[in-house]
Amino acid sequence: APVVVKKICCIGAGYVGGPTCAVIPNIQVTIVDLNKARIDAWNSDNLPIYEPGLDEVVKEARGRNLFFSTDVDKAIEEADLIFVSVNTPTKKSGIGAGFAADLNYLQLATRRIAEVSTSSKIVVEKSTVPCRTADAMRTILEANSKPGCTFDILSNPEFLAEGTAIADLFNPDRVLIGSLQTESGLSACGSLAAVYSNWVKKDQILTVGLWSSELSKLAANAMLAQRISSVNALSAICEATGANIDEVAYAVGKDTRVGPKFLKASVGFGGSCFQKDILNLVYLSESLHLPHVAKYWRAVVEMNEYQKDRFAHKVVETLFNTITGKKIAMLGWAFKKDTGDTRESPAISIANHFLSEKARITIYDPQVGEDQIWLDLTDYGAIPAEPIKPNVSIQKSAEDACKGAEAIVVCTEWDEFKTLDWEKIYANCPRPAFVFDGRLMLDRKKLQKIGFTVVTIGTGD
Ligand code: NAD
Ligand code: UGA
Repeated sequence: APVVVKKICCIGAGYVGGPTCAVIPNIQVTIVDLNKARIDAWNSDNLPIYEPGLDEVVKEARGRNLFFSTDVDKAIEEADLIFVSVNTPTKKSGIGAGFAADLNYLQLATRRIAEVSTSSKIVVEKSTVPCRTADAMRTILEANSKPGCTFDILSNPEFLAEGTAIADLFNPDRVLIGSLQTESGLSACGSLAAVYSNWVKKDQILTVGLWSSELSKLAANAMLAQRISSVNALSAICEATGANIDEVAYAVGKDTRVGPKFLKASVGFGGSCFQKDILNLVYLSESLHLPHVAKYWRAVVEMNEYQKDRFAHKVVETLFNTITGKKIAMLGWAFKKDTGDTRESPAISIANHFLSEKARITIYDPQVGEDQIWLDLTDYGAIPAEPIKPNVSIQKSAEDACKGAEAIVVCTEWDEFKTLDWEKIYANCPRPAFVFDGRLMLDRKKLQKIGFTVVTIGTGD
């Protein structure tokens, strides 16, 4: 019979580790991280990430069955089951730079598990990884383990989306568990399934082979991103023809085989995962000598780059081909609404574009602080801040950001932008006053009536 899991350790207290473990109802979970500031924040009233509903869930569970700690070794040693939920970013140098996943964090965590453990463990790959990573993990674990310790490795990718993480975790479309089809593999799979069955219906817990599970995660993200690139590609045709992308997406999505969700045209997709995971799939395809497959997926990322550039160009073109010295207000900096996360946010590329044209930009985002915006603008210190400082100002409200702006550019679909006092904003803008809606979220007719010239992605009129 499967081992009953009594104590869980989660290595990595990030966007995934924190929320996923906070919803586990009745098993002791210790989330550990090497980053002390992050752990301190998880133990404070000021959580390190913003996610609707997260505060309440953490407050209820913390100290009851949920603990945050920097004592990685102790948590590993005590646990029967260990989630490895560390970051797996795109490699910046060496073989596969720019495409392959950097598995260093994952391997260091795995090595630590082997070195510290004095009893057998179930080790769960929660991070998104290339297909067959579990093989390497097993080799590392077996080569470094103490006598009598055995390790079962499971793949259990996470499908939560930021901004809706808590709802997604309480009510997932599915939970996917991959294991070796051996007796001990299947038994470990049963142990993890039992953890989830505390709140997830049995028929939503899918159990498959290890490699299918690993690949399904990359496949799911690739297919989701591909929908956005498809709709964004069509948005360019709409702009050139007078069709409207929302109408086209609505008509196409009514086909039950396509479905209505995830068909919103935009300034391009952002977030820490879509691009990274597709590039990872491209690298995998190339390593497997499948250049046609690699080229196909690579185009999804290329289309996204094109969309971001196209939008920035459109702003410049519309402002009579120069934005030098002009004030442009950017509304939204996060990669989507309801998160403070800015990783790969399209707003960053758009801002860089405006700055390279020597525009003066003002930025407002309800959840992203000034420090983070500067980290993004300087690529975490790689680019000097001094030359751009005079041209960047970060504001505490949308109204302040828009004061005196020749163009207002909506980059993130925060709900509050819908209900701004647009008449007052208009009164404080020079003429002609432009609004560029990169998210198709504003009431175009209303803005036009006020006097704005409105340019919306994916509409030709
Ligand atoms: P993150 O950077 O927010 O968190 C990772 C944490 O792991 C960091 O706090 C880091 O300090 C810690 N860490 C790294 N190495 C460690 C070690 N050896 N010991 C202890 N702690 C260590 O990353 P994230 O956004 O939570 O993503 C984690 C993984 O989940 C990635 O593989 C990602 O692709 C995947 N994923 C992310 C999301 C998402 O929405 N962000 C969704 C699904 C899957
Ligand atoms: C995405 C997936 O949706 C999750 O299932 C997955 O677990 C996660 O990646 C991951 O592996 O990290 P996330 O990136 O948090 O989640 O957010 P999404 O809602 O997918 O949005 C991604 C980007 O696409 C955002 O910039 C968003 O604005 C954009 N988007 C989304 C569109 O432009 N149009 C859409 O119709 C949907």
